[in-house]
Amino acid sequence: MNIGIIIGSHRKTSQSAKVGRFLSTLLETEFGAQTWIRDLGTTPLPLWDEDIWNDGPQWQQLKALSAQLTESDGVIIVAPEWHGMAPAAIKNFFLCVGMPELAHKPALACAVSAGEGGAYVIAELRMSSYKNNRVCWLPEHLIARSVKDICNDDATQNDTDLQAEFVARARHASTLLLAYAAALKPIREDTTIDHSGL
Ligand SMILES: Cc1cc2nc3c(=O)[nH]c(=O)nc-3n(C[C@H](O)[C@H](O)[C@H](O)COP(=O)(O)O)c2cc1C
Repeated sequence: MNIGIIIGSHRKTSQSAKVGRFLSTLLETEFGAQTWIRDLGTTPLPLWDEDIWNDGPQWQQLKALSAQLTESDGVIIVAPEWHGMAPAAIKNFFLCVGMPELAHKPALACAVSAGEGGAYVIAELRMSSYKNNRVCWLPEHLIARSVKDICNDDATQNDTDLQAEFVARARHASTLLLAYAAALKPIREDTTIDHSGL
């Protein structure tokens, strides 16, 4: 299985990227999945404009990401809670990609908070990001709360209980993501479905 991980923080060195790397390692080492990461903090997309429809020069870079997404079997969206919202980078991502990249693919939402937040991001992603691209949000999600105390490369920096709780949730969510990825593949390949959308 090929899983793309999109990091939705604008920060060049973000906690969201740290969590994304942790999930990537988990999926590769424990589940044998292939993963790739696009960090919108270090490699941002242009802010959407009409030139995207005319193949404008600033949009050439989108082709590589589009191809990676199209080949993927599922995605993980890791996004911090900023001012009780999902940051603009991840909303912009959903403006820039569509059905060819995401339709009928499972997506695992993972919110990130330095404190006890994160729920607004999950609600926002579930509510408003699927309409035109037909991505399928998993019924499970992750929230990396107290994020500075979990998923650290140096395990001695982790809070043991919080880390164990997050890892258990991440394993469960990863199992589901890969099961949904396999289950939805026949739908993506079903020629009786009008995949252009109506
Ligand atoms: C502009 C801004 C707004 C933030 N607003 C919230 C918030 O509403 N709720 C919350 O739990 N954390 C908030 N935080 C703190 C983040 O949880 C924290 O930065 C955390 O490290 C995740 O962000 P990162 O992935 O960009 O590092 C905010 C951080 C920034 C930079």
